[in-house]
Amino acid sequence: MKILPRRTFCGEFQIPGDKSITHRAVMFNAAARGKAEITGALLGEDCLSTAACMRALGAKVEVKGGTVLVQGTETFRDADLYCGNSGTTMRLLMGLAAGRGINARFTGDPSLSNRPMERVAAPLRLLGADIATENGKPPVQVRAARLAGTYVKIPVASAQVKSAVLLAGLGAEGETTVEEPIRSRDHTERMLAAMGADVRTDGNAVTVSPCTLRAQDVAVPADISSAAYFMALGALLGETLCKNVGVNPTRTGILQVFSQMNVQYSLENQRTVCGEPVADIRVKKSALKGVKLARGIVPSLIDELPLIAVLCAFAEGESVISGAEELRVKESDRIRTTAEMINGIGGDCTPLADGFAIRGRESLAGGNINSYKDHRIAMSGAVALAASKRGGEIADAECVDISFPGFYGMLSQG
Ligand code: S3P
Repeated sequence: MKILPRRTFCGEFQIPGDKSITHRAVMFNAAARGKAEITGALLGEDCLSTAACMRALGAKVEVKGGTVLVQGTETFRDADLYCGNSGTTMRLLMGLAAGRGINARFTGDPSLSNRPMERVAAPLRLLGADIATENGKPPVQVRAARLAGTYVKIPVASAQVKSAVLLAGLGAEGETTVEEPIRSRDHTERMLAAMGADVRTDGNAVTVSPCTLRAQDVAVPADISSAAYFMALGALLGETLCKNVGVNPTRTGILQVFSQMNVQYSLENQRTVCGEPVADIRVKKSALKGVKLARGIVPSLIDELPLIAVLCAFAEGESVISGAEELRVKESDRIRTTAEMINGIGGDCTPLADGFAIRGRESLAGGNINSYKDHRIAMSGAVALAASKRGGEIADAECVDISFPGFYGMLSQG
């Protein structure tokens, strides 16, 4: 994909639906009693992997235009579940399958087959689950077992691991509590509560009791992790307005970073939709300043870090991002792939064990980018190239369909 350099970038954008919320809306409703309609759902490849898995487990999931219709099933059948590129699909479903007492085998594409699954299997075993991984990675085999609720302390802040334990807890005997070191996104807690579950949060610990979920219609807001690319284009090149964006406080670390980097932005039309805060986000061209980010903020902007690194490459001064070693185990090793992307187009990014050190430049020359088939590297690279002097090309650019179908079309509209 060729990305042309831009002098300015302005416009109003309807960003596709939130990936995390779409996964959960499809998965939880497919496991609930009754029928639900999900509007604004993200129809990207990852969420379609979840839909296919839920069908394999016995639910009805139908995509009609932009709406997903789900008829849940209270009993799952044994299944082989192919999760594609989607870590959220595999990890959440490991917990749900364990809680439902079924046999399920999980596989994925080459990227997912290389990602850690013991972080989910180990806490689930504390509830009595029978799970095997292959050297900690997929394929994963869940075998039928009875679970008993317990108190689980997980070492990494991960919404995927937390969610897996909570979903298993719905089918366990007694209460299940999961405690994480830093609070991660809480879409699971909000949606399970809306579907009738008894979910209690106390600091970084969440407790759930066994229950049958009631199907619930969901209106999915736009994904702040996808809007972030267009917000960044506004900050670098003009003015953008992203409409109807989810601004759940466990996801808005990028707005705190904007404040620290001197990015001018405002939230308009703030409201709550289906238990999630939503707003329109306006961003204006700003003189960016470098930033220091540490572990505490990382979970609230984990997927935006490659893009934040790009913004730092255009900012005045040196930026340091630390406490982000989780980036090593995403769809690619994002510490390595982000640094390579920035350096390949004339920036100055040093990879660290747990993040990056970036020296900002007034402008970047441009050049070619290898996405390593990682959607967030491709889109962060596209923003960097649009703001560069010469632009350039992105290899394996179609991976954006994982989370943002139509990304390049929208980029050409601004
Ligand atoms: C997600 C949680 C995050 C994030 C991923 C989606 C989710 O992963 O990186 O894109 O929907 O729960 P971790 O929870 O493993 O950090």
